[in-house]
Amino acid sequence: MSRIVVLGSCSIDYVVETEHQPQKGETIKGIEFQKYFGGKGANQAVAAKRFGGDVAFVGAVGNDEAGKQILANFKNEGIQTNFLKEVEASTGAAVITIIDGDNSIIYVPGANHQFTVTDFSSIFSDADIVLLQLELPKEIILDALTYCVENEITTILDPAPSELFSAEMFEKATYITPNEMEFSDIARKLRTTEKELLEKNPQKIILSKGAEGVSYFANGIQVNVPAEKVEAVDSTGAGDTFAGVFAATLLEGSFDQAVKWAVKASALSVKSKGAQTGMPTRMMLK
Ligand code: RIB
Repeated sequence: MSRIVVLGSCSIDYVVETEHQPQKGETIKGIEFQKYFGGKGANQAVAAKRFGGDVAFVGAVGNDEAGKQILANFKNEGIQTNFLKEVEASTGAAVITIIDGDNSIIYVPGANHQFTVTDFSSIFSDADIVLLQLELPKEIILDALTYCVENEITTILDPAPSELFSAEMFEKATYITPNEMEFSDIARKLRTTEKELLEKNPQKIILSKGAEGVSYFANGIQVNVPAEKVEAVDSTGAGDTFAGVFAATLLEGSFDQAVKWAVKASALSVKSKGAQTGMPTRMMLK
């Protein structure tokens, strides 16, 4: 079985469902409030594990109740946590608003930004694939990408939040999985157009178009992989599901097939509330 290492964030998501965003100075009534496990890294790890991956998570929790709960959740999912550190800080948090199934997120890094690495060779010692996002300090992500290039380890980078994304990261990552907003931000940063970026990077950029599925470029054409139509109640974590399942299936040999699995899993994940709740197992898609 291929070994997947997720280097990334873990947080508690504080989720409010509401009908519209309040204006400045306005108070509105919400529909529901819930707490869920989240963080882009933790979500990717759970998605990969539920799809049959051998998964280790590397990151940091705070020395608080939330940190203990996150550790218990990883153990419950069967994810290895030898390199999950407890640091003197509050566990990461995300305040999420859900309106008509779509999310907007404010992320407070907390412990995630206290994470440090001294030795990539031990955490990536038997990694076949490394999953990264940008909710850890960007220097760590760049160092991790550099290590993986030097050691020929495949990487999948989710460029979110895209404000931290850089041209160097783009060069070094094997695969990049932006959503449309992140992709236009990246194209602007790299001083090119989205079309040109996609065409010049075949099978490197996998562009998520939400309910429409994903697109990538291969053999001179744009390949569109449509998603099954579902009733979305919460899109949080759909991109993380894509990345985790893509990683878990990629080393079986076929890029195209891995994308198809990931699109299917990602579509199913939005049918439940909470980033990790609706992530399917492989059996559920057969
Ligand atoms: O990608 C979704 C995740 O991003 C949420 O779980 C939240 O933690 C945010 O940071």
